[in-house]
Amino acid sequence: MSKPAKSLYGDNRLPKHIAIIMDGNGRWASKRLMPRQVGHKAGIEALRRTIETMIDLKIPVLTVYAFSTENWKRPADEVNHLMNLLLDYLTNELANLHEKNIKLRILGDQQALSARIREELAIACRTTASNTGLLLNIALNYGGRSEIVKATREIAQKVKEGYFDIEDINETTFEEHLYSQGVPEPDLLIRTAGELRISNFLLWQIAYTEIYVTDVLWPDFDREVILEAIEDYLKRDRKFGATK
Ligand code: FPP
Repeated sequence: MSKPAKSLYGDNRLPKHIAIIMDGNGRWASKRLMPRQVGHKAGIEALRRTIETMIDLKIPVLTVYAFSTENWKRPADEVNHLMNLLLDYLTNELANLHEKNIKLRILGDQQALSARIREELAIACRTTASNTGLLLNIALNYGGRSEIVKATREIAQKVKEGYFDIEDINETTFEEHLYSQGVPEPDLLIRTAGELRISNFLLWQIAYTEIYVTDVLWPDFDREVILEAIEDYLKRDRKFGATK
Protein backbone atom coordinates (compact mmCIF):
# COMPACT_ATOMS: atom_id res chain seq x y z
CA MET A 1 0.00 0.00 0.00
CA SER A 2 1.51 3.33 -1.01
CA LYS A 3 1.82 6.15 1.48
CA PRO A 4 0.87 9.71 0.61
CA ALA A 5 3.55 12.32 0.26
CA LYS A 6 4.64 12.79 3.88
CA SER A 7 3.49 16.39 3.76
CA LEU A 8 -0.15 15.26 3.45
CA TYR A 9 -0.17 13.77 6.94
CA GLY A 10 -1.40 16.35 9.39
CA ASP A 11 -1.73 19.01 6.66
CA ASN A 12 -4.39 21.33 8.07
CA ARG A 13 -5.61 22.10 4.55
CA LEU A 14 -6.84 18.52 4.14
CA PRO A 15 -10.61 18.31 3.65
CA LYS A 16 -12.47 17.91 6.95
CA HIS A 17 -15.41 16.24 5.28
CA ILE A 18 -15.36 14.07 2.15
CA ALA A 19 -18.63 12.97 0.56
CA ILE A 20 -18.73 10.20 -2.05
CA ILE A 21 -21.21 9.17 -4.73
CA MET A 22 -20.29 5.50 -5.04
CA ASP A 23 -21.16 4.67 -8.63
CA GLY A 24 -20.26 1.96 -11.13
CA ASN A 25 -20.85 -1.31 -9.28
CA GLY A 26 -23.08 -2.58 -12.09
CA ARG A 27 -20.62 -1.61 -14.83
CA TRP A 28 -17.75 -3.21 -12.90
CA ALA A 29 -19.68 -6.49 -12.79
CA SER A 30 -20.85 -6.29 -16.43
CA LYS A 31 -17.26 -5.84 -17.60
CA ARG A 32 -16.52 -9.16 -15.91
CA LEU A 33 -19.70 -10.80 -17.30
CA MET A 34 -20.96 -11.19 -13.76
CA PRO A 35 -24.30 -10.29 -12.15
CA ARG A 36 -24.65 -6.77 -10.75
CA GLN A 37 -24.79 -8.22 -7.25
CA VAL A 38 -21.14 -9.17 -7.51
CA GLY A 39 -20.36 -5.52 -8.16
CA HIS A 40 -22.28 -4.40 -5.09
CA LYS A 41 -20.45 -6.97 -2.96
CA ALA A 42 -17.11 -5.70 -4.26
CA GLY A 43 -18.42 -2.21 -3.43
CA ILE A 44 -18.47 -3.14 0.26
CA GLU A 45 -14.73 -3.88 0.10
CA ALA A 46 -14.17 -0.48 -1.52
CA LEU A 47 -16.07 1.12 1.35
CA ARG A 48 -13.85 -0.71 3.86
CA ARG A 49 -10.69 0.53 2.09
CA THR A 50 -12.08 4.06 1.99
CA ILE A 51 -12.83 4.08 5.72
CA GLU A 52 -9.29 2.84 6.47
CA THR A 53 -7.80 5.63 4.37
CA MET A 54 -9.96 8.30 6.02
CA ILE A 55 -8.81 7.11 9.43
CA ASP A 56 -5.18 7.01 8.33
CA LEU A 57 -5.32 10.55 6.95
CA LYS A 58 -7.36 11.73 9.96
CA ILE A 59 -10.19 13.07 7.82
CA PRO A 60 -12.91 13.70 10.45
CA VAL A 61 -16.09 13.08 8.37
CA LEU A 62 -16.99 10.69 5.54
CA THR A 63 -20.47 10.65 3.94
CA VAL A 64 -21.36 7.93 1.43
CA TYR A 65 -24.43 7.68 -0.78
CA ALA A 66 -25.55 4.07 -0.31
CA PHE A 67 -29.19 4.18 -1.45
CA SER A 68 -31.13 7.07 -2.92
CA THR A 69 -34.86 7.76 -2.80
CA GLU A 70 -34.78 6.97 -6.55
CA ASN A 71 -33.06 3.59 -6.13
CA TRP A 72 -36.45 2.01 -5.25
CA LYS A 73 -37.11 2.13 -9.01
CA ARG A 74 -34.58 -0.69 -9.53
CA PRO A 75 -35.85 -4.27 -9.93
CA ALA A 76 -37.13 -5.69 -6.63
CA ASP A 77 -34.44 -8.38 -6.46
CA GLU A 78 -31.67 -5.78 -6.74
CA VAL A 79 -33.31 -3.62 -4.06
CA ASN A 80 -33.61 -6.68 -1.80
CA HIS A 81 -30.01 -7.59 -2.45
CA LEU A 82 -28.82 -4.08 -1.55
CA MET A 83 -30.88 -4.13 1.67
CA ASN A 84 -29.46 -7.55 2.59
CA LEU A 85 -25.94 -6.33 1.92
CA LEU A 86 -26.59 -3.42 4.22
CA LEU A 87 -27.92 -5.75 6.93
CA ASP A 88 -24.85 -8.00 6.60
CA TYR A 89 -22.61 -4.96 6.69
CA LEU A 90 -24.23 -3.66 9.87
CA THR A 91 -24.17 -7.01 11.65
CA ASN A 92 -20.68 -8.09 10.56
CA GLU A 93 -19.01 -4.73 10.81
CA LEU A 94 -20.45 -3.10 13.92
CA ALA A 95 -17.83 -4.46 16.34
CA ASN A 96 -15.07 -3.39 13.98
CA LEU A 97 -16.53 0.12 13.48
CA HIS A 98 -16.89 0.51 17.23
CA GLU A 99 -13.36 -0.72 17.91
CA LYS A 100 -12.06 1.85 15.43
CA ASN A 101 -13.87 4.57 17.37
CA ILE A 102 -16.12 5.33 14.37
CA LYS A 103 -19.42 7.08 14.99
CA LEU A 104 -22.17 5.98 12.63
CA ARG A 105 -25.00 8.23 11.57
CA ILE A 106 -27.75 7.66 9.00
CA LEU A 107 -28.97 10.41 6.68
CA GLY A 108 -32.34 9.74 5.09
CA ASP A 109 -35.91 8.65 5.70
CA GLN A 110 -35.79 5.40 7.65
CA GLN A 111 -39.59 4.92 7.73
CA ALA A 112 -39.58 3.15 4.36
CA LEU A 113 -36.94 0.64 5.49
CA SER A 114 -37.85 -2.74 6.99
CA ALA A 115 -38.32 -3.01 10.76
CA ARG A 116 -35.29 -5.33 10.90
CA ILE A 117 -33.03 -2.79 9.18
CA ARG A 118 -34.33 0.08 11.29
CA GLU A 119 -33.60 -1.94 14.41
CA GLU A 120 -30.04 -2.80 13.30
CA LEU A 121 -29.43 0.83 12.34
CA ALA A 122 -30.66 1.99 15.75
CA ILE A 123 -28.37 -0.52 17.51
CA ALA A 124 -25.37 0.52 15.39
CA CYS A 125 -25.97 4.24 15.90
CA ARG A 126 -26.59 3.80 19.64
CA THR A 127 -23.51 1.62 20.12
CA THR A 128 -21.21 4.09 18.39
CA ALA A 129 -22.90 7.30 19.56
CA SER A 130 -20.14 8.34 21.97
CA ASN A 131 -17.25 7.50 19.66
CA THR A 132 -14.95 10.37 18.86
CA GLY A 133 -13.10 9.16 15.74
CA LEU A 134 -14.31 9.22 12.15
CA LEU A 135 -17.95 10.28 11.72
CA LEU A 136 -19.36 7.93 9.07
CA ASN A 137 -22.62 9.19 7.58
CA ILE A 138 -24.41 6.64 5.44
CA ALA A 139 -27.03 8.23 3.19
CA LEU A 140 -29.80 5.67 2.98
CA ASN A 141 -33.15 6.24 1.35
CA TYR A 142 -31.74 9.73 1.01
CA GLY A 143 -32.72 12.42 -1.45
CA GLY A 144 -31.59 16.03 -1.32
CA ARG A 145 -34.96 17.37 -2.47
CA SER A 146 -36.95 15.32 0.02
CA GLU A 147 -34.56 16.44 2.78
CA ILE A 148 -35.30 20.08 1.90
CA VAL A 149 -39.07 19.37 1.85
CA LYS A 150 -38.76 17.63 5.25
CA ALA A 151 -36.97 20.64 6.74
CA THR A 152 -39.53 23.02 5.25
CA ARG A 153 -42.43 21.03 6.70
CA GLU A 154 -40.87 20.88 10.16
CA ILE A 155 -40.21 24.61 10.15
CA ALA A 156 -43.73 25.38 8.85
CA GLN A 157 -45.17 23.21 11.65
CA LYS A 158 -43.15 25.15 14.22
CA VAL A 159 -44.35 28.45 12.80
CA LYS A 160 -47.93 27.16 12.91
CA GLU A 161 -47.52 26.12 16.54
CA GLY A 162 -45.98 29.48 17.42
CA TYR A 163 -42.44 28.26 18.24
CA PHE A 164 -40.96 30.43 15.47
CA ASP A 165 -41.82 33.61 13.64
CA ILE A 166 -41.32 33.61 9.89
CA GLU A 167 -38.62 36.25 10.42
CA ASP A 168 -36.66 33.70 12.50
CA ILE A 169 -36.18 31.42 9.50
CA ASN A 170 -32.67 31.75 8.15
CA GLU A 171 -29.92 29.49 6.82
CA THR A 172 -28.92 28.42 10.32
CA THR A 173 -32.45 27.42 11.38
CA PHE A 174 -32.89 25.64 8.05
CA GLU A 175 -29.66 23.68 8.52
CA GLU A 176 -30.88 22.60 11.95
CA HIS A 177 -33.76 20.72 10.29
CA LEU A 178 -31.68 18.74 7.80
CA TYR A 179 -30.64 15.11 8.36
CA SER A 180 -27.06 16.39 8.46
CA GLN A 181 -27.82 18.85 11.26
CA GLY A 182 -24.58 19.85 13.00
CA VAL A 183 -22.27 18.17 10.46
CA PRO A 184 -19.87 20.55 8.70
CA GLU A 185 -20.52 20.87 4.96
CA PRO A 186 -18.42 18.64 2.70
CA ASP A 187 -15.21 20.22 1.45
CA LEU A 188 -14.78 17.62 -1.26
CA LEU A 189 -17.34 15.56 -3.16
CA ILE A 190 -15.96 12.61 -5.10
CA ARG A 191 -18.02 10.80 -7.73
CA THR A 192 -16.80 7.55 -9.21
CA ALA A 193 -17.60 6.04 -12.63
CA GLY A 194 -17.34 9.26 -14.57
CA GLU A 195 -20.87 10.71 -14.56
CA LEU A 196 -20.94 14.50 -14.29
CA ARG A 197 -24.04 14.89 -12.12
CA ILE A 198 -25.09 15.28 -8.50
CA SER A 199 -28.01 12.79 -8.53
CA ASN A 200 -29.97 14.50 -5.74
CA PHE A 201 -27.13 14.15 -3.20
CA LEU A 202 -26.67 16.73 -0.42
CA LEU A 203 -28.19 19.54 -2.49
CA TRP A 204 -28.18 22.07 0.33
CA GLN A 205 -24.83 21.05 1.81
CA ILE A 206 -22.66 21.17 -1.34
CA ALA A 207 -23.18 24.85 -2.15
CA TYR A 208 -19.41 25.50 -1.97
CA THR A 209 -18.06 21.96 -2.09
CA GLU A 210 -15.25 21.15 -4.51
CA ILE A 211 -16.17 18.34 -6.91
CA TYR A 212 -13.84 15.63 -8.18
CA VAL A 213 -15.02 13.04 -10.71
CA THR A 214 -12.97 9.96 -11.48
CA ASP A 215 -13.61 7.33 -14.16
CA VAL A 216 -12.60 4.62 -11.69
CA LEU A 217 -15.58 2.36 -10.92
CA TRP A 218 -16.53 2.17 -7.25
CA PRO A 219 -15.34 -1.42 -6.65
CA ASP A 220 -11.87 -0.38 -7.86
CA PHE A 221 -11.79 2.75 -5.69
CA ASP A 222 -8.80 2.81 -3.40
CA ARG A 223 -6.28 4.87 -1.51
CA GLU A 224 -4.48 5.95 -4.71
CA VAL A 225 -7.66 7.52 -6.08
CA ILE A 226 -8.42 9.21 -2.77
CA LEU A 227 -4.92 10.70 -2.73
CA GLU A 228 -5.31 11.89 -6.34
CA ALA A 229 -8.61 13.55 -5.43
CA ILE A 230 -7.11 15.21 -2.35
CA GLU A 231 -4.06 16.40 -4.25
CA ASP A 232 -6.35 17.93 -6.90
CA TYR A 233 -8.48 19.51 -4.15
CA LEU A 234 -5.41 21.08 -2.54
CA LYS A 235 -4.65 22.90 -5.81
CA ARG A 236 -8.08 24.58 -5.85
CA ASP A 237 -8.51 28.17 -4.85
CA ARG A 238 -11.62 28.21 -2.64
CA LYS A 239 -13.15 31.66 -2.62
CA PHE A 240 -16.69 30.95 -1.34
CA GLY A 241 -18.05 33.60 -3.68
CA ALA A 242 -15.59 36.27 -2.63
CA THR A 243 -12.62 37.68 -4.55
CA LYS A 244 -9.12 36.84 -3.36
C1 FPP B 1 -23.87 2.34 -7.61
O1 FPP B 1 -23.62 1.31 -8.49
C2 FPP B 1 -23.91 2.00 -6.22
C3 FPP B 1 -25.04 1.91 -5.44
C4 FPP B 1 -26.43 1.81 -5.91
C5 FPP B 1 -24.88 1.95 -4.02
C6 FPP B 1 -24.52 0.64 -3.42
C7 FPP B 1 -23.28 0.78 -2.70
C8 FPP B 1 -22.62 -0.23 -2.14
C9 FPP B 1 -23.07 -1.64 -2.27
C10 FPP B 1 -21.44 0.06 -1.38
C11 FPP B 1 -21.59 -0.34 0.05
C12 FPP B 1 -22.55 0.42 0.86
C13 FPP B 1 -23.27 -0.03 1.95
C14 FPP B 1 -23.29 0.75 3.19
C15 FPP B 1 -24.12 -1.24 1.94
P1 FPP B 1 -24.65 1.15 -9.70
O2 FPP B 1 -25.42 -0.08 -9.42
O3 FPP B 1 -25.46 2.38 -9.87
O4 FPP B 1 -23.64 0.98 -10.89
P2 FPP B 1 -23.90 1.23 -12.44
O5 FPP B 1 -24.23 2.71 -12.59
O6 FPP B 1 -22.61 0.87 -13.07
O7 FPP B 1 -25.05 0.35 -12.84
